[in-house]
Amino acid sequence: MRIAVAGGTGRIGRLVVEELRRSGHEAVSLSRSEGVDLRSGDGLASRLAGADAVIDVTNPPVATVEEAEEAFTAITATLLRAERDAGVAHHVALSIAALDAVDGNPHYFGKRAQERAVATGPIPFTIVRATQFHDFPAMIAEWSVVDGEGVVPPLLLQPIAPADVAAELVAAATSAPLDGAVEIAGPRTEDAVDMARRTFAARGHDLPVRASWREAALGLEFAGEVLLPSAQARLAPTRFDEWIADGAQ
Ligand SMILES: NC(=O)c1ccc[n+]([C@@H]2O[C@H](COP(=O)([O-])OP(=O)(O)OC[C@H]3O[C@@H](n4cnc5c(N)ncnc54)[C@H](OP(=O)(O)O)[C@@H]3O)[C@@H](O)[C@H]2O)c1
Repeated sequence: MRIAVAGGTGRIGRLVVEELRRSGHEAVSLSRSEGVDLRSGDGLASRLAGADAVIDVTNPPVATVEEAEEAFTAITATLLRAERDAGVAHHVALSIAALDAVDGNPHYFGKRAQERAVATGPIPFTIVRATQFHDFPAMIAEWSVVDGEGVVPPLLLQPIAPADVAAELVAAATSAPLDGAVEIAGPRTEDAVDMARRTFAARGHDLPVRASWREAALGLEFAGEVLLPSAQARLAPTRFDEWIADGAQ
């Protein structure tokens, strides 16, 4: 199949492109650095010609609720219009597990707007809601460095390996559209602070990590078990310690 990956140069997008090629599919990456702007649609039509499906793993930079809702809605609308014109039969969007349980974070407002646009759009779709990736705690530590320490809130996650997310997205795009959502998670719960420390140690990066909600990049709306997946989630195989042993990339 010929499958376009919106955001194919990003953290998860690169792995999706690799996984598509490894499994014998043709992958077409769509990103601004490759001449495709998914807000304006510039460069999109010619790259989408002949595509059977689109996997959307974009992540526009946003700071406020309004910016997030506007950006995710605009990108989705542009993509769906171009997909309809190109005869694309399946739109797959990567979203977040427990999306509806987190109030107050701009990114989550943007992702809910994205899901609404996909579900009410003209293209048969599958939404893949994933829990946080194994490198998520290290990423939030780097977003909030205070006095030389990365601040990580002490929250509970059930993280998933980035490569497992890519495999699930490819499996979704090469199957029939669900016109609904599927939830995926890693095999066990983990402590975010411990994860950040072990990720930096595995990467040889000596950023100290401080456990705190104050000055953390995430607010108290993420506290407790709010991010844990539902009982219906499909569990991917790769444990956090296996990902660490494999180099934490
Ligand atoms: N991190 C997690 O734990 C987690 C968990 C669940 C779900 N997710 C979801 O995963 C998705 C992908 O995250 P990521 O970390 O892989 O993102 P990322 O590394 O920031 O990559 C974002 C991609 O989007 C492209 N992009 C952004 N704006 C664009 C535009 N206007 N036109 C065309 N391309 C554009 C970027 O390329 P250019 O800049 O070159 O345009 C890049 O390829 C997010 O939507 C997030 O909600 C993440």
